Amino acid sequence: MIVRSLEHLKQISKTISQKLENGDYIFLIGELGVGKTTFSRYLINNLQNQKGLKETEVLSPTFNLLYEYEIKDLKIMHYDLYRIKKAKELDYLGIFSEDDKTVKIIEWPDLIKTPLTNKLEIHLEYGQNDKERKIKIYGLGKWKDFENEI
Ligand SMILES: Nc1ncnc2c1ncn2[C@@H]1O[C@H](COP(=O)(O)OP(=O)(O)OP(=O)(O)O)[C@@H](O)[C@H]1O
Ligand SMILES: [Mg+2]
Repeated sequence: MIVRSLEHLKQISKTISQKLENGDYIFLIGELGVGKTTFSRYLINNLQNQKGLKETEVLSPTFNLLYEYEIKDLKIMHYDLYRIKKAKELDYLGIFSEDDKTVKIIEWPDLIKTPLTNKLEIHLEYGQNDKERKIKIYGLGKWKDFENEI
C-alpha cells in the first residue's frame, strides 16, 4: 500500500491504535529515517487522545533503548534495538515476557526470533518522493488478516 503523506500515515496509525491492547507487539521494520519513530509517535499520541489525556512528547529511544508511557490502563514500551548487536543482550530488556501485559512497540526488531502471540509487523519503505512511503503489514494472532482492514 502507498502512504502518500504524513497525514495519511497518521490516518493508518489510527486504525491500528483503536485495536491496540496490552499484550500486543508492534514490530517496525525499515531503513534508517523511513518513519518508524514517526509512526510510533502517532500511535502513542492517538492512544493518549482516545483515553482523554494530553499528548506528550514522543522521543526516539535510539540512545535510551526504551521509553515508557502510561496511558490509563495501557502501558506502552517503545524500544529501538538498533544498537543491540547480540540476541543475548535482549534478555535484560524484558521483551519476551508476555506476562507483563504491556504494549511493546519495537523499532529494529531483527534480532527477535521468539514466537509471539499477538504481533503486527509493519514494513516501511521509501517511495517515489520524500513524502511517500510504502507500507506492508503482516499480523499474527488477533492481528491475523488485519492487513485487509486498512
Ligand atoms: N509519509 C511519511 N511517513 C513517515 N515519515 C515521513 C513521511 N514523509 C516524511 N517523513 C519524514 O521522514 C522522517 C522519518 O524519521 P523517523 O525518525 O521517524 O525515522 P526512523 O525510521 O525512526 O529512523 P531510525 O531508523 O533512525 O530510527 C521524519 O522526518 C518524517 O517527518
Ligand atoms: Mg527511529
